[in-house]
Amino acid sequence: MAARKRLGIGIIGSGFMTRFHIQSFVAVRDADILGIWSPTREHAESAARLAVDLGVGGFGAQRCRAFESLAQMVSAPQIDAIWIVGPNYMRVAHAQEIFARLAEGKAELKGVACEKPLARNVAEARQMLDLAQQSGIPHAYMENQLFAPSVVRGREILWRRGAAISGRPYLARTAEEHSGPHNPWFWDGARQGGGVLNDMLCHCVESGRWLLTDPQKPRHSVTLKHVSAQIAALKWTRPEYAKRLKSRMHGIDYAKTPAEDFARGVLTFQDEAGNELILEASTSWSYVGTGLRLTFEVLGPEYSMSVNSLDSDLKVYFSREVKGTAGEDIVEKQNAEQGLNPVVPTESAYYGYEGENRYVVGKFLAGEMPAETWAEGFEVVQELMACYMAAEQKRTVPFPPDGLDAFVPAVAKGEWAPGQ
Ligand SMILES: NC(=O)c1ccc[n+]([C@@H]2O[C@H](COP(=O)([O-])OP(=O)(O)OC[C@H]3O[C@@H](n4cnc5c(N)ncnc54)[C@H](O)[C@@H]3O)[C@@H](O)[C@H]2O)c1
Repeated sequence: MAARKRLGIGIIGSGFMTRFHIQSFVAVRDADILGIWSPTREHAESAARLAVDLGVGGFGAQRCRAFESLAQMVSAPQIDAIWIVGPNYMRVAHAQEIFARLAEGKAELKGVACEKPLARNVAEARQMLDLAQQSGIPHAYMENQLFAPSVVRGREILWRRGAAISGRPYLARTAEEHSGPHNPWFWDGARQGGGVLNDMLCHCVESGRWLLTDPQKPRHSVTLKHVSAQIAALKWTRPEYAKRLKSRMHGIDYAKTPAEDFARGVLTFQDEAGNELILEASTSWSYVGTGLRLTFEVLGPEYSMSVNSLDSDLKVYFSREVKGTAGEDIVEKQNAEQGLNPVVPTESAYYGYEGENRYVVGKFLAGEMPAETWAEGFEVVQELMACYMAAEQKRTVPFPPDGLDAFVPAVAKGEWAPGQ
């Protein structure tokens, strides 16, 4: 019997998200993480060790290791696919290096996957998409929420029963909120591409659109017509919080160069029958609850569904006598170690990383294009930039608005003045 094909994966970056991906691979067959590259060698080595320790990093002479350079990793014979999980400001440079090696015949890859967001603005996203399309190999845009089991199952039941019998859903509400990101570059409008809108509304717009799209029909069976949006600095520009942020996040000064910590967008779609569909997407870095909170709601004529990631069946309680160190061992972006805390027992499954990686590995091994490619990632960037434009201009903009291709948010240019 022929051996099953396996996918050897190399990951760019060894930070927070890479570690989540590595954990998720315990639930993925037919793939091994065999390489990590990031600029700080000890970090790359530590991530490679994690992969080996969890049994997802191969074994023997082929086991996962830290590479000296991205070029070496891309060209290594054991590496069949690259997962781009570096910071947003390096996206285009990383993609250029990967696809240049391929074009020169110095690498053979079955696919390239890219974390959200595809890029910081439409011009950069266009560069990414052109590179991927010219290469001719499969490319995946990684939107984990489309694989979150509660969202997947809710959508399946709702469309099969409620929509089939009483009519399609007309309203989706999606939100992602927590108390702020873990590294300085996320807070820096220029390096990240914006504030919380760019960082997290990407999840909300794509999951909301997906919930409103008939699973039997293509993505473009719903068309985005217009967008209104608002961004605000609710918490982190207050003097005491700006000071706290400055002391915790090197180089970040929200008294001088703030980014938004709250954003919401209302996206109006139309389906093929001319029905109006509304998506209310909301996000913030100014939510202090037990930890990361994801919510999804869908409303239709005779039904509704709702998901709240903090409505977990498992809760732990610690009295005031339990004074442990601060951590994220109970739930992502945890804010407290005492009192009643919900626990998401298998976060990498719950948030969708396991399902996402299982699906993308299968597609790359089959030589097929996944459902979400860099073209879908490109559209998400267009939607986010339209939200920034609508917020800056304080009006509802048609989609796509004029000037979108060259648009860079004021936040990303360091020119945003909150409250004006
Ligand atoms: N899907 C999700 O839910 C989710 C969650 C968090 C982050 N992300 C995305 O994943 C990506 C990585 O985020 P993270 O949380 O791991 O960030 P992080 O800051 O924790 O890690 C970034 C990694 O990139 C490396 N790096 C830094 N500078 C680099 C450079 N010049 N070239 C190459 N690598 C460099 C760092 O060493 C680090 O290992 C981001 O694009 C982010 O938007 C997605």
